[in-house]
Formats: sequence, structure tokens, C-alpha cells
Amino acid sequence: MNRRNFLQKSAFTAAGIGLTPLFGGSYQSVFGQTAPSNKVKVALIGCRSMGWSNLNTFLDYPEVECVALCDIDDEWLNKRAGDVEKKSGKKAPKLYKDWRKVIDNKDVDAVIIGTPDHWHCLPLIYACQAGKDVYVEKPLANTIEECDLMVKAARKYNRIAQVGQWQRSDPHWDESASYLRAGNIGRIRTVKVWAYQDGKPTLPVIADEPVPAGVDYDMWLGPAPKRPFNMYRFHYNFRFFWDYAGGLMSDWGVHLLDYALEGMGAPLPTHTFSGGGKFAYPNDAMETPDTLMATYAYDDFNIIWDHACGINHGPFDKKEGLAFYGENGTLVLTRAGWEVIPVVAGKEARMEAVPFKKGEGKGLYNHVGNFLSCIKSRNLPAGDIEIGARVAKMSHFANISSRLKREVRWNEATRSFINDNEANQLAKAHYRAPWTLPVL
Ligand SMILES: NC(=O)c1ccc[n+]([C@@H]2O[C@H](COP(=O)([O-])OP(=O)(O)OC[C@H]3O[C@@H](n4cnc5c(N)ncnc54)[C@H](O)[C@@H]3O)[C@@H](O)[C@H]2O)c1
Repeated sequence: MNRRNFLQKSAFTAAGIGLTPLFGGSYQSVFGQTAPSNKVKVALIGCRSMGWSNLNTFLDYPEVECVALCDIDDEWLNKRAGDVEKKSGKKAPKLYKDWRKVIDNKDVDAVIIGTPDHWHCLPLIYACQAGKDVYVEKPLANTIEECDLMVKAARKYNRIAQVGQWQRSDPHWDESASYLRAGNIGRIRTVKVWAYQDGKPTLPVIADEPVPAGVDYDMWLGPAPKRPFNMYRFHYNFRFFWDYAGGLMSDWGVHLLDYALEGMGAPLPTHTFSGGGKFAYPNDAMETPDTLMATYAYDDFNIIWDHACGINHGPFDKKEGLAFYGENGTLVLTRAGWEVIPVVAGKEARMEAVPFKKGEGKGLYNHVGNFLSCIKSRNLPAGDIEIGARVAKMSHFANISSRLKREVRWNEATRSFINDNEANQLAKAHYRAPWTLPVL
């Protein structure tokens, strides 16, 4: 497709699709339209950790230019401005503390969202509505309701939305899934998926403190309930508090369970039973379970999730991974690569071993490249938002089941749990005013 056809195909204006501009101005920015040099002009919202890893990788591609950065914390905003300047050799991008200004910036073609989970939904929806493509971190959102709405927005506004599940672009994951689906290890009855993270230590209870200088804490909380500032709920540690995230279950679960579904060719489960709690650190500050085991029951196999903070020795002595147990052999898959260990019955191996096949280790680089190429082709990306929504919902099922201490049954057609008001409440986003979920 030449540049002119591409622009005709992908460009639209706010008026053209009947939108009311959200934060002022009218929107015309899509890739190439505002970029005579044909550069993809990106902005990053949420700069500290993974957001920066993403942007740093985007900047490895010569067609990318960073035109804006946004963070509620001056320290990280300024630090990343310096990092971008150093890496690109160009003057610092525009700096914002309010992400709505990024949406208003017509120079921005694509937005990278690296904020905590409770802050993925609104920036994505409004970026889509403004005609920008989005690379959003995983898990897609902190509630099931938000996940569904985000998919709706991406589709309605015809945007490319790539979720940061970069295993989707690391070839050995798909290679092992294809191998499984070809039936090579025989009928599979159990898939074990685990994250044993000795690097997740206890989180001591510390007193609330004044908000640090340069931090817009109200904007960090956003739609989450108002509460005093506490360093151990803030950067990075937000993961362990329900208002902002879902603990190890959704943090690591979405990366790995995605490939349990892929390897089995399975849809979203209907029946989930999960048990977990603060077994390791009963008195520390974390709210989410440090130990949890979930069973997703299908008609003729189970997927089992198992996580533990603070210890290692997961199955096969690997910190994280999947094991597909077939009649003839077990396929073990991790970020490092995959192998098949034959079942030996008596003295006879039921199949040939597949020696360890090392992965390329370029998942993030490839994933960003895939997003950039989809911005041009308008094809669905490798980690399309629907893939991200499916596995985020799956991990929320386990958290909801463990919080309610009972099985939950999901009906995808009605987007609700069957006969379970409490579970349905936990599936919903309860936003603090003035933030509201848009009606699409
Ligand atoms: N794909 C991966 O491999 C991977 C790895 C780590 C983290 N993540 C995901 O990335 C996300 C961020 O995690 P992290 O570890 O980088 O967190 P972090 O706390 O280190 O960084 C989050 C940044 O977002 C900023 N922020 C918060 N609210 C904001 C707002 N309203 N506007 C602008 N900036 C805001 C914070 O100030 C901070 O700089 C999470 O969803 C996490 O699950 C993904």
C-alpha cells in the first residue's frame, strides 16, 4: 500500500466518525498524517519502569520519534526526559503531568501506556477515540468490566491496540503451542502453570506519610478510592493492593496462562475454583494472596495456576513456566525455551525426547516491531487487545474465586457470573468521581 492509499484508508477526523472531542480540539492525528517524515510519533504515559523499557525499545526503531512524556511524578518525568534526549540525540519531548494533554496533542500518533493497572482503561479508551493507536501494558485492566469496554473502544474506533504480553512475539512460545496442537505428546489432561518468585519479599506495614514533593497523588489514585499516601502502595508495590492491581495472579498470570489457552486451543474457562491467602506473610501490608492455587475446569482437562511469593523451587525447579502433561510426554515451556520429557512406562519411553530449544530472547523488541508494522498495515497485532482481555479476565476469575472462597462460573455471552451478585460486583469498575467509565 502506498503512502497516499494508506492515509486514505486509515485517516479520519473526529467529525468523520461522529465524535465529540473529549478534551478540546478536533482530532486528526494518525500515523503519517502529521508526520511528513513518515515517522511514528509516540508518547509515553507512565514513565518509571516498564513504560520506560517499552519506550527505550521503541526508540531502537529508527522510524520512531518520542514527542511527549507524561508522569504524575516529576522525578521520573524529568529523568526519562533526559534519557530520551540522550538516546535520540534530539531535544527533550513535551512533558505533561496530566495524561489528557497527551490525548489532546495532535502530533501524537501512538500512545504507550505504562501506568499501574487501574490506570490502563481511561487513557486507552480516550486515545482510541482520539484516533491514536495504543501499546498498553498487561494485565489489560484491573476489572473485567474495563477489559470488555477497552476491546469495544479499540474496535469501535478502528485502532491498533497491542497488549504488552510480549511472549506473543517471542517465536519459541508459538512454536511450542503449534507442536502441542499437532498432538505430539498425546492427549493432554493437565496443564500446570506457575510463578514461584523468591524475588517478591514481604512488604512491611509502614505509616502513611505526606505526599512527596513533585507527585500529583490525586492523579496517581485517579479512579481508585481516596486514601492517604503510603510509599509501600505506590511505585511498583501497587501490584499487591486490590484498588490498583491483582497481585502475582494477574501480574504473571496473564503472561503464562495466555499460553495455556494457546497450547490447548481453549476458550475462556467457565468454571474456576481458587484458594489462596497470606500464608507466607500473614501480617504484612500486601492485600493480594502471596500463595494461591486455582483450577480452571474444562470438560476433559484442567488448567492449574500455582503461585508463591518469597520462595523458589516451582515445578521442574523453574521459577515460572508451564507444563503440559500428555499421555506420551510432558512439554515444559518457560521464557528461556521449551523441551519435552518423555513418559517412561516400565522401561519404555513413550516418545522421543525433544531436547531443550532455547528461545531468541527478543520478545519485547519483536513485539514493539510488530506493533509498528501493524500501525502501517492495519492488521491485528500479535498481542491484540482481545487476547489481552481474555487472559486478564481469566486471572480475575481466580482472584474473585479466592476472595469469595467459592467456585465462580462465568457466562461469556452475558458477560457475567452465573447467579452470583457478589462476584458480579467484583467484576465491575467502581470509579471515584469525577472519573467515570465512558459509555460506548
Ligand atoms: N510486560 C511486562 O513484562 C511487564 C513488566 C513489568 C510491569 N508491567 C506492567 O507495567 C505496568 C506498570 O508497572 P511498573 O512496574 O512499570 O510500575 P511503576 O510503578 O514502576 O511505574 C508506573 C509509572 O506510572 C506513573 N503513573 C501512575 N499514574 C499515572 C497517571 N495517572 N498518569 C501518568 N503517569 C502515572 C507512575 O508515577 C510511575 O512512574 C503495570 O501494569 C505492570 O503490570 C509489564
